[in-house]
Amino acid sequence: MRSGERIAVGLIGFGTVGTGLVEFLLERAETVGDLYLKKVVVAHPEKPREVSFKGITGNVREILDDPEIQIVVELMGGEQPALSYVLESLENGKSVVTANKVVISRHMRDLFARARRKGVDLAFEASVAGSIPIIRILKGFANERILRVTGILNGTSNYILSRMEEGLGFEAALKLAQEKGFAEADHILDTGGFDARDKLAIVAALAFNTPMDPERIYCEGITGITSIDLDFGVRYGVGEGEPGYAVKLLATARLGDDDALELHVYPALVHRHHPLAAVYEEMNAIYLEGERCGPQLYLGRGAGRSATTSAVVSDLLRLAANRRRGIVDELPSLAGAVPIADVRKLKRRGYVRLNLKHMPGSIAEATRIMGRHGFNIEDSVQRRRFQMQFNGQVYMPDIVTVEPLPYGVVEDALEELQASERVHGMPFYLRFEE
Ligand code: HSE
Repeated sequence: MRSGERIAVGLIGFGTVGTGLVEFLLERAETVGDLYLKKVVVAHPEKPREVSFKGITGNVREILDDPEIQIVVELMGGEQPALSYVLESLENGKSVVTANKVVISRHMRDLFARARRKGVDLAFEASVAGSIPIIRILKGFANERILRVTGILNGTSNYILSRMEEGLGFEAALKLAQEKGFAEADHILDTGGFDARDKLAIVAALAFNTPMDPERIYCEGITGITSIDLDFGVRYGVGEGEPGYAVKLLATARLGDDDALELHVYPALVHRHHPLAAVYEEMNAIYLEGERCGPQLYLGRGAGRSATTSAVVSDLLRLAANRRRGIVDELPSLAGAVPIADVRKLKRRGYVRLNLKHMPGSIAEATRIMGRHGFNIEDSVQRRRFQMQFNGQVYMPDIVTVEPLPYGVVEDALEELQASERVHGMPFYLRFEE
């Protein structure tokens, strides 16, 4: 670019983060120097906005076809048409900043290839863990052999679990998270673990330099968690001098014994001495271990307008500086080919929680089924405080802690337990983090 030329920016999407970005660009004009916002594309240009901006349009061509716009910021979310807009922007020689974990996690290889071919930048720091610059950190580990990455990557779920540990019900906690602007439009993306899964696919691809398919990552959210689990965690082992456990939604990628990558998202009991147990509210955290660097922990706000805007602004300012210098960031080659482990074969310690008919022989029946599947029981606790009634019959929640077993075996046993007339509802399996 010619010296003294101003860098025009086009923004696609004017939601929570888009509003934060516009606010920043208008209020902090002195910080952004020769950068200026030229157009904002929205689905409904007539809708009243929290922040007013005169360059609002409903026509995306006003950004994609404008040769003066050098950087496109995509904050509309969802796979399409966002993917097409990002691809076309790159094709037209524009650098792109995106917060879109769906687009990046599924199309990383093609997007990187196109950005490289066109000699432009593609930055996606805001797609994972809000304000934590984890993408730059992972890119910085060029010579490190990463052994594991475990993250709390969904702020909404972490916020809900924090409130539930204080005694609030799931629905009330979710409503609070929605009011605070952390949750996705469809909250099942958060509470079902899918948001964390897409973010894990990005983190794992960078940590292991291998493209990941998010759809192939085992994914369980927090919708099965009840206050019984949180109560159990708080108390477990405490009478024996242990500090207890917190329940967290963990997204993990770790090299197993045979160097296959164990990839999963599920809620787990985290020992209070583990650093991730202390991560509360909408905070995100990433705990990683490298062969030479050892354990590391990154902590920060993972959701909400200001945290995500912070990551978008950092990318935007860096890409503008790159344009001025005529350089681009290096993108990972994704040339690795780490095999993915079969989740049904992974052995974890955990417990089975099931609602047993309150009558003689129910525990014996449940443990008989478990014994047949090879469960070695460590503890069994009935929680009378949480007893319930269905059709006039009293049921007692029972928590049975078992030694590590392959998940496939556990799944088969859960199905058989559910079929028993002594059990009400689907038994729930909660793992311990190891
Ligand atoms: N809904 C996400 C979360 C924030 O709760 O973490 C955007 O990624």
